[in-house]
Amino acid sequence: MKGVILAGGTGTRLHPLTRIVNKHLLPVGSYPMISYGIERFRQAGITDILLIISKQSAELYTNYLGSGENFGVNLVFRVQETAGGIAEALNLAQSFIAPGEKFVVLLGDNLFLDDLTPYVQSFMKQAYGSARVLLKPVDDPRRYGVAVFDPSQPDLISYIEEKPEKPQSNYSVTGIYMYDDMVFERIGKIDRSARGELEITDVNNLYARAGKLEYDILQLWWGDAGTFESLLEAGTRMRGVLP
Ligand code: DAU
Repeated sequence: MKGVILAGGTGTRLHPLTRIVNKHLLPVGSYPMISYGIERFRQAGITDILLIISKQSAELYTNYLGSGENFGVNLVFRVQETAGGIAEALNLAQSFIAPGEKFVVLLGDNLFLDDLTPYVQSFMKQAYGSARVLLKPVDDPRRYGVAVFDPSQPDLISYIEEKPEKPQSNYSVTGIYMYDDMVFERIGKIDRSARGELEITDVNNLYARAGKLEYDILQLWWGDAGTFESLLEAGTRMRGVLP
C-alpha cells in the first residue's frame, strides 16, 4: 500500500516561525515534525510515500530526507504551488496512485502515538469506493472537523461538520484518511469553499452521504501541531517515539 503526506499550506497560525521555515520542518522533540508521519507509515509497512510540499523550504526537505533510504522508505516529492486546500493538495497524488489502488493520507501536522497497522487492516477489508477516517475524542471539537452519527447506522459517519460553533459530538476527524483512486473523482465534484479552498471535509461528506464513510477511534494521544500550544505539547508527547 502507498502513503501520501500533505505538507503544503502556509502555517499562518505559527507566524513568525513559519515565515522562515515550512511548518512541517519545525522541531518536535529532537526531530523535524515530518519525521513522525514517515515513521508511522514505515511502521505500518507503507514504504512508498509521496510527500506534497510547498515551494517554501523544498530544498531543506530533500537535504534532510533524501530518497528516504535512511528512513527505511522510498520518497517521491511533489510541489503544491499555492495553498489551495487539503483536497487540492491530495489531488496532486492522482498520478502516484494506480487504478483500483488503496492508499493512506496523513496531514503532516498530525502527530499521534497509535500504530496505524490495525486501522489499515480494517480498511483493506472495505469495499472499493468506500473510505475510512480515524477519529479522536477531544476537549474542544470546535477546532476540527467533527463527526455526526446516526444511531441507526453506528458503524458509519453520517456527516462531518467543519469547525462547528455547536459541535454535535466531541469526536474530531483527525488528518488520517484512507481512500482508493475513486477519491480523485470525488475531489472533481466539489467546489471551492468560502475561503477559496478545496476542503477535505466536502470530499468526506460525499462518502458520508453515500453511506460509505467508516471509521476507527484512535486509542492513544493525538494532536495537530498547528498552533504554538499544540506544537509545544506535541514536543513533549512525541518524546521517545523516534530513537
Ligand atoms: O488536524 C485535523 C484537522 O485538519 C481536521 O479535523 C479538519 O477537518 C481539517 O480541515 C484540517 O483542519 P486544519 O484547519 O487544521 O487544516 P490546515 O489548513 O491547518 O492544514 C492541515 C495540513 O494540511 C497541514 O499539515 C498542511 C496540509 N495542507 C493544507 C492546505 C490548506 C496542504 O498540504 N495544502 C494546503 O493547501
